[in-house]
Amino acid sequence: MKDAALRIESGTIAFAGTDEEFVRAYGEAPAAGETVLDGRGKTAVPGFVDAHTHLPWAGYRESEFNERLKGATYAALAAAGGGIVSTVAATRRASEEELAGNVRARLDRMLLHGTTCCEAKTGYGLEKAAEVKQLRAIFRGAEGHPVAVAATALPGHEVPPERRGSAGAKRRYLDEIAGEILPALAAGGARFVDVFCETGVFDLAESREILLAGRALGLVPRLHADELTPLGGASLAAELGAASADHLLFVSDEGIEALARAGVVATLLPGTSVFLRMNRYAPARKLVSAGVPVAVATDCNPGSSYTESLPAVAFFAAVGMGLTAEETLTAMTLNGAASLGEAATRGSLESGKRGDAVLLDAPSLEHLVYHYGVNPVTDVVAGGRLAVRDGRRV
Ligand code: NIG
Ligand code: FE
Repeated sequence: MKDAALRIESGTIAFAGTDEEFVRAYGEAPAAGETVLDGRGKTAVPGFVDAHTHLPWAGYRESEFNERLKGATYAALAAAGGGIVSTVAATRRASEEELAGNVRARLDRMLLHGTTCCEAKTGYGLEKAAEVKQLRAIFRGAEGHPVAVAATALPGHEVPPERRGSAGAKRRYLDEIAGEILPALAAGGARFVDVFCETGVFDLAESREILLAGRALGLVPRLHADELTPLGGASLAAELGAASADHLLFVSDEGIEALARAGVVATLLPGTSVFLRMNRYAPARKLVSAGVPVAVATDCNPGSSYTESLPAVAFFAAVGMGLTAEETLTAMTLNGAASLGEAATRGSLESGKRGDAVLLDAPSLEHLVYHYGVNPVTDVVAGGRLAVRDGRRV
């Protein structure tokens, strides 16, 4: 829409329509206490929703990234003691305070890039105390922050290094997840339960067991599915009525049909494809044609996608997966919100929804995917609060 106007009152969108209608309803001059953002020459979009991140971690894996540039694979590096377990070691060593500071710094960068709502997972603790420390760090880092955060329990991110080597040791970890870790995370405020359903990590039966244990505690399932191998995680997501099936590079046609039938959101992470040099993306066009709602997220983590920027990922969604500018915007707003159970309250500029809005330094929406490698966000309103103005935090 050209010549658009938007009004936010008490944290909620009170009006969305044309300038002309706006003036008819509210007059020309702003009332005392009102803030006016001039969007001339800019494009207003909903606040971005980043529905898949691993925010509370310590340490970096830049050398591993460099090894991949020399030809090493993600799987080979993990087998050599790198990968998720090296971040687990650093995260176990870190204090809750340090992790909360990291979360906050990452939320700050997300906000500057237009994100007003995100999901954040545990999963680098892999033992009760460290998983709870991560969860507390998520909430502590997010306290009072303009970005709203939903937490996900992910003790099933990997088999802890000390539980490898025998079926019995892994079995005991699964029992601990169901009996101790998930109850503690559910009591601590997590909303979702996730698992890395992958060859060599947790198979379909083990993933089902973890997700059902979470569901019994009131957590909503979502999962890393068909990321590196075609294991059938998408069908499991459909079977369990998961909120989201994520990654999906190797999803089968049956998996796609199952997602469509069950109304599961496909959360795609094209930045991860590029970062891991996969030479492959999730089949976004096939998913869209099948009627699966497609969301796009950053996967922000130190090993497979180190970015807080949804606009950066939007470029890969468009160029790599073939989503149009409009589809990409929907994927990073309304469909991301749907995967977090927030479609009724976030993800579009409609009256009655939360006042999360972003101004882009762009004469049209297409610039969101066309002008790449820059931050197009100039202003962010989160929950009715002006949080970024002219590219700076207020
Ligand atoms: O979403 N697939 C599993 N988890 C992450 C990778 C995390 C890591 O490498 O530290 C992912 O890609
Ligand atoms: Fe992930």
